[in-house]
Amino acid sequence: MSKPVVLIAEELSPATIEALGPDFEVRRADGADRDELLPALADVDAVLIRSATRMDAEAIAAAKRLKVIARAGVGLDNVDVESATQAGIMVVNAPTSNITSAAELAIGLLLATARNIAPANQALKAGAWKRSQYSGVELLDKTVGVLGLGRIGTLVAERLKGFGMKILAYDPYSSAAKAGQLGAQLVGLDELLAQSDFITIHLPRTPETVGLIGEEALAKVKPSVRIINAARGGIVDEAALARAIAEGRVAGAGIDVFATEPTTESPLFEHESVVVTPHLGASTEEAQEKAGIAVARSVRLALGGELVPDA
Ligand code: NAD
Ligand code: MLT
Repeated sequence: MSKPVVLIAEELSPATIEALGPDFEVRRADGADRDELLPALADVDAVLIRSATRMDAEAIAAAKRLKVIARAGVGLDNVDVESATQAGIMVVNAPTSNITSAAELAIGLLLATARNIAPANQALKAGAWKRSQYSGVELLDKTVGVLGLGRIGTLVAERLKGFGMKILAYDPYSSAAKAGQLGAQLVGLDELLAQSDFITIHLPRTPETVGLIGEEALAKVKPSVRIINAARGGIVDEAALARAIAEGRVAGAGIDVFATEPTTESPLFEHESVVVTPHLGASTEEAQEKAGIAVARSVRLALGGELVPDA
């Protein structure tokens, strides 16, 4: 009898293959290349992806034998879960695999914006010793606004508490009790925007959150604010943020995710006070290993006809 086929559509940790074991035929394709992905999906039982593969209605229709879509990470916004469900395809992810890595990157971006680490590094390596130009601000006693007090927002809040920051949080689906346990105060969006010295975004990309940090929100912030987005592209309106920085209405930003990815262009790239990374939130050895093992286990269980527990 032939083995079930698992298509690996993106770069995943070698631990993924080990965790799958010998019972599957493993194939590979570049999930970001539609011309390669669609035919490759035709006769596979499971597909393993990260964020570059769009498993939309077209891809799902092309995958006649598909039983499982496994996302080695958190966000499912590149998977059309409704079409998959209609087609009887199970969608699994690894919701806790990379949360520490994403939280740590957000804090890295926040510190980088506070202390001008990226432009100072660039200037010094280019031969300029600019001590006075790159003076920054401390975190101690500053206010940070956490947008989205879920898994990652919580880890970020806990860690920033250690820096002596006052924590405000906006999350209509969270509770004052949970925020209180973290030493954070749950507030409305307008209050968070008006009070924060730093704003860090940890929201899913949904119709409600796309463009949330746009012209209107940016009109309410302090000019000294620094904005961090290591959640999803599109939640921050890049053009509006670039304008606010150019006009001195925002002091800086740390951005890991973009409305279109991959990209090498954004109006934000023109500003020295913006530090950017190419969607590196989950890019650590530890997170990739955890994500790969978690989804490989889920695929084994699902294709074996067993119940897949919530991660
Ligand atoms: P989560 O589901 O645990 O938390 C999200 C929180 O946002 C929840 O508490 C929810 O109540 C809140 N929320 C939802 N809609 C909201 C709204 N309209 N206004 C205010 N709050 C709202 O998710 P998480 O694991 O913490 O992940 C957060 C984000 O980080 C996701 O977008 C995820 O895809 C992204 N992420 C990015 C990377 C990266 O590589 N940069 C890595 C991991 C996760
Ligand atoms: C996620 O949602 O898990 C991250 O964006 C990381 C990834 O795409 O691997």
